[in-house]
Amino acid sequence: MLGQAGELIAAVAGGRGFVMTHPAIARLHGPALSTGLAPFDHETIHIPAGERQKSLRRASALWDELVSRGADRQSVIVAFGGGVIGDLAGFVAACYMRGVPYVQIPTTLVAQVDSSVGGKVAVNHPRAKNLIGAFYQPLLVVADVSLLHTLPAREYRQGLAEAVKTALIADPELFQWFEANVAAVARRDESALAHMVRRCCEIKADIVSADERESGRRAVLNFGHTVGHALEALAGYRRLRHGEAVSIGMSAAARVAERLGMFSEAEAERLANLLSSFRLPTRIPGTPISAVLEAMQSDKKTLAGSPRLVLPREIGRVQAGCEVPQSLLREVLAEVRVVN
Ligand SMILES: NC(=O)c1ccc[n+]([C@@H]2O[C@H](COP(=O)([O-])OP(=O)(O)OC[C@H]3O[C@@H](n4cnc5c(N)ncnc54)[C@H](O)[C@@H]3O)[C@@H](O)[C@H]2O)c1
Ligand SMILES: [Zn+2]
Repeated sequence: MLGQAGELIAAVAGGRGFVMTHPAIARLHGPALSTGLAPFDHETIHIPAGERQKSLRRASALWDELVSRGADRQSVIVAFGGGVIGDLAGFVAACYMRGVPYVQIPTTLVAQVDSSVGGKVAVNHPRAKNLIGAFYQPLLVVADVSLLHTLPAREYRQGLAEAVKTALIADPELFQWFEANVAAVARRDESALAHMVRRCCEIKADIVSADERESGRRAVLNFGHTVGHALEALAGYRRLRHGEAVSIGMSAAARVAERLGMFSEAEAERLANLLSSFRLPTRIPGTPISAVLEAMQSDKKTLAGSPRLVLPREIGRVQAGCEVPQSLLREVLAEVRVVN
């Protein structure tokens, strides 16, 4: 796919390209990208690595850069990187001249199965992640699974958590496929990667096109994320990767649903087994439960009062907006907490 990127972009956009990436990704895959983009007039802007770059300050520096390089309304921004670059470059594109076209070329599994599709773009605020952002769809997403071979194991694994989430919320067949293909997925077999990325993109695109701005159905994508975000914020983004936190969050949500009689014990076990077979965590690392509950209160998706969770009904179907009594949540969290 990377080899065809230039042609694909030129087919939908006319102007000059501004590729946003960071030096480590450019070192690994820059030459392949340049070859692929050859038919398309472009230049590259390097962004330092790290989640901290998803800031208004960095966005502002990028707008300055676009102005000084003469970018105009027809210019196309190309995000070449993981979710950090994708969210940031997409946000820069959404605001520059009230919106210029952009293309996602995701290089991590998280970005290929999740963040590059759906049009949520944002930067972080000192008080909360992704607080300043927009819904702004890319013109095109070019996902080349061969880029995933260089991804560190932990980054790959956290992407699998989002892929398992996608299967659990919407596609029992994909879930079964995961169960039957653990080894191929774990060794990053290319046809397995292609199947997984394609299905996840189709499912996410389907959900988002029914509810682009998250007034309803899109909320199912937050399965595992209410508890997940709280754990992630408490542990610090480096110690617990987003996908790892989501994996624990999904396990907790499954137990809550089981207690409420909404989800069977057997299916909860299938979820836990699949996550464990990808070496994803399912238990809370030592954090005090009261801190987790408090952090959930400050989640922007928690309406006043008790937290609302997306809970599983069966593999392939979830229910959003379930109000869960604090006492039950406290009990379940205590149950899944590792005491050290
Ligand atoms: N917009 C959305 O819907 C959405 C959804 C999920 C996550 N996100 C956002 O995505 C971000 C996380 O994205 P991420 O997990 O992709 O992390 P990331 O962008 O930080 O990338 C993870 C690491 O992998 C490296 N890397 C990237 N591609 C590589 C490759 N092919 N080979 C080797 N190394 C490579 C990066 O340099 C980085 O160190 C967060 O900011 C999160 O908020 C957004
Ligand atoms: Zn997520």
